[in-house]
Amino acid sequence: MITVNGDWFALETANTGYYLGVRGGLVENLHYGARVRVENSVPLREKTDIGYGGDVVYRAESAPLSLEHLCLELSPLQKGDYRAQSLSLVMPGGARTADFSFVCARRLEGSVPPEGMPAARGGAETLALDFSTPEGVAVTLFYTVYPDCDVITRRLCIKNGADAPVTLEKALSYQLDLPGCDYVLSTFPGAWARERHEACVPLTPGAHVFGSTTGASSAFCNPFFMLCAPDATEFNGDAYGFNLVYSGSHMGCVEVSPWGKTRVAAGIQPEGFAWTLAPGERFETPEAVLTFSRAGKNGMSANLHAFVQEHIVRGKWAKKDRPVLLNNWEATYFDFNERKLLSLAKDAAKLGAELFVLDDGWFGARDNDAKGLGDYTVNRKKLPGGLASLAEKVHALGLLFGLWFEPEMVNADSGLFRAHPDWIVQTPGNVPATGRNQYVLDLCRAEVQDYLIGQLSALLDSAPIRYIKWDMNRHLAGVSGAFAHRYILGLYEVLHRIFDARPDILLESCSSGGNRFDLGMLCFSPQIWCSDDTDPIERLDIQKGLSYLYPLSAMGAHVSASPHSQTLRRTPFGTRFAVSCFGCLGYELDLRELTPAELREAKRQVEFYKKHRMTLQYGRFYRFTLPEGREAFSCVARDGAEAVTGHFRRLVHAAPAFEKLPAAGLERDALYEVGSLPPLLRISDFGALIKHALPLKLRADGAIMRRADRLAGLRQAAEKYRASGAALLDGIRLQNLFSGTGYDKALRLPGDFGSEIYLITRVGKAK
Ligand code: GLA
Repeated sequence: MITVNGDWFALETANTGYYLGVRGGLVENLHYGARVRVENSVPLREKTDIGYGGDVVYRAESAPLSLEHLCLELSPLQKGDYRAQSLSLVMPGGARTADFSFVCARRLEGSVPPEGMPAARGGAETLALDFSTPEGVAVTLFYTVYPDCDVITRRLCIKNGADAPVTLEKALSYQLDLPGCDYVLSTFPGAWARERHEACVPLTPGAHVFGSTTGASSAFCNPFFMLCAPDATEFNGDAYGFNLVYSGSHMGCVEVSPWGKTRVAAGIQPEGFAWTLAPGERFETPEAVLTFSRAGKNGMSANLHAFVQEHIVRGKWAKKDRPVLLNNWEATYFDFNERKLLSLAKDAAKLGAELFVLDDGWFGARDNDAKGLGDYTVNRKKLPGGLASLAEKVHALGLLFGLWFEPEMVNADSGLFRAHPDWIVQTPGNVPATGRNQYVLDLCRAEVQDYLIGQLSALLDSAPIRYIKWDMNRHLAGVSGAFAHRYILGLYEVLHRIFDARPDILLESCSSGGNRFDLGMLCFSPQIWCSDDTDPIERLDIQKGLSYLYPLSAMGAHVSASPHSQTLRRTPFGTRFAVSCFGCLGYELDLRELTPAELREAKRQVEFYKKHRMTLQYGRFYRFTLPEGREAFSCVARDGAEAVTGHFRRLVHAAPAFEKLPAAGLERDALYEVGSLPPLLRISDFGALIKHALPLKLRADGAIMRRADRLAGLRQAAEKYRASGAALLDGIRLQNLFSGTGYDKALRLPGDFGSEIYLITRVGKAK
C-alpha cells in the first residue's frame, strides 16, 4: 500500500516495493523490485557527494549534484540529464528547458483514471506527485497500486498553467531508472500473420528503442516488453514486465547510461507528435503497467494475467467462460448464402459449439474486399430473410449468433464513401493511401463518430446478436502523431457509446489478426483474435509470445483446415485442437470437409474443452522450456483440482530418447490421477508400413485404405495411473516414442507436428 513519510514514499504490493525519495526539488527512485523493509529512506539512498569531470551541476546550492547520475522519476529538461526522458516541451517563448520542481505528494483512494482513455480499475490507492516550473507548467505523476497482483500503474498529466501555449513534443507515460544494467531485454516484434515472436537482447550501453508508428499498437511491436536478469528462467529469477493501456502508436526505450544505470521509458510514440496545450489545457498520457517477480517469467506472467482478469477486462464477460464458436470465414470467405451458413451452423451445433459467427461479406455489395465496406445493410441476395431471421434460425439450432464488421474503414466503391467522400482520413494536396482497397474513416470528427454509433447501434438492436468481431484491417498513413492519438481517443469514444449500453454482447477485437492486441482494447473486448495465421505450429510462437503478458481467456484461437491456407503445412487434427485449446476455442473451417472420423474427434475435443475450459481460460498458466523445438504449456485450476498440459513437437527425430514432461503448480502431498487424451492418428500416415501391422495385405493408397482412413483411425493407449504431486513435479515420465522397431499401443506416434494433452486430476492426499 502507499505510505507518505515526509521526504520519502513507499508503494508496496504483496511482494514488490517501489520507493521514492525527495531530494531538493527532485524525486528519485530509491528502489523498484522485491519489497524491502525499511524504517527510513537512508539505507536506500544513493550517495552523491562526488562530482565527475564534465558534469553539469543541477543547482549551485546543491553542487556537485548532477542529474546525470540520479534515478529520476521526472527530469527537469535540459538541465544535465542526457538520457531519454518522459517529456520534451517547447515552453512559452520557445525555450526547451523546463525546471520541474517537486511541490507535494497526495495519497488518494482507489484508482484515478485518465480522462477519455481506458484504464485499469479497482486499484487500492494512488500516489499523486505534483511538480511545477516557475512559468506555471504543472506535471502530476500518478502511481496506483494493485497489491493482489503485484502491479503498479503509472501515468503523467501535464497542465499548462502558463499564460502562453506550450507544445508537447514527447509525452511518455513514465520514466524509471534501475540502478544496474545486467538485464536481458525481451520485446515482442512481428508482422501480419507472425505476430509477437519473442526477441531477446542483452543490454549494452546506449538506447534500445522500439515501438510502432502505424496508428495501432501493431503487430510490428507489441507495447509489452520485459527486462529479466540474465540467469532468469521461466521459474526463477528477477523479471520486470512493462505494458501500456493504449491501442495507438507507441514507443518504448531502454537505455543504459554511461554510469551503468538503466532508464526505462514508454508511452505514446513521439515521432511526429506535436500537441499544443493552450493556457489552462491539460494532456493525459495513457496508463503504463509495471510489474516485478522474483519467480521468473512465469511469475511475472501470473501477475499480469491476474491483473488483466481482475482489473482490465470488465463487464458481464469478465471472468466468464468463453463460448466455443464456429466462424465461417475460412470455410466460405465471401461466397455464401443462407442455406450454406445454416448447414455450417447445423454441423457446428452437432459438434457442441455454442456460438455461430458470421464473418465478412454479409452486407452491401461485399462480394470481395474491394467493395461494400461501410454499408452495413444486409445483402438480401445472400440473406433474403435478413439478419434477424438468420439469427433466429441459428438460435433455433441452440447456438448464439455473432457478427463481423469493420466500422473504422470504407471502400471507395461503397454507398458511404459516395455520400461522404470527405469523411476519410486525408491531407489536403495528397492522394489518400489505400490498404486492402480501403480508406480509414476520420474518427476524430464528431459527425463520423455519431454516424457510426447510430448505424451500428441500430444494427445491433435489430437482431439477437450476442457477439461482435470488430475488425480493423490496415495501418494509418499520411497523418501526424497528434492526429493518430486523437484517432485512438475517437475510437475509444465510439466503443464506449456503442457497447456500454449493450453489456450482453461479447466483443472480440481483431485487426488483420493481432495488429491491435493490447490492454486498451481489452478494456472493451474481453477477447482478441491472436492472428490471421491459424497454422498450429506458427501459433505456438504467436500464442506463447502473447502468454507472457495476456491470459488465455483473452486469446481467440481456432482450429482450421490442413494443409493450412498460409503455410501449406499439413498438421494433425489433434495438434490443431491442442494448440487452440490453450486459448478461447473456435473452429474456422468447412466442417463438411472433415472425415466422419475427424467429426467424431471434433465432438470429443469440444466436450473435453467445455469440461476443462475454466482451467484452460482462467487457470494458473505455466510455460516450460524444452529441448528440440518442443513446447509445453500447462494450466492449473485456481482451486488446484486439475491441470491440463499440452506437449507440442515440431519435427520428430530418429531413435528418440526417453522423454520427461515438466510439471508445475501441483501440491506435493496431493494424490493425482494422470490421464491423457491421445490424438487420433491417420492410418494413411503410416504409408506402406501399415502392411506390416495388419493381417490383410492392403495397398497404402488403395480405396480400402482411403475409406478406412475416413471412417476410423489409430489411437495409442491412454495413460492412466496415480501419483503424488511430489513424484509428478519430478517430471511426468512419458510413454516411449515410436522409432521403427515395432508397433505397440503403448507407444506415442506423434510424427512431425504431433502433440499430446495430459489431464492431471487431484483425487486425494498422497500417503
Ligand atoms: C481480417 C480478419 C479475418 C477476417 C477477414 C475478413 O483479415 O483478421 O479474420 O475477418 O478480415 O475480411
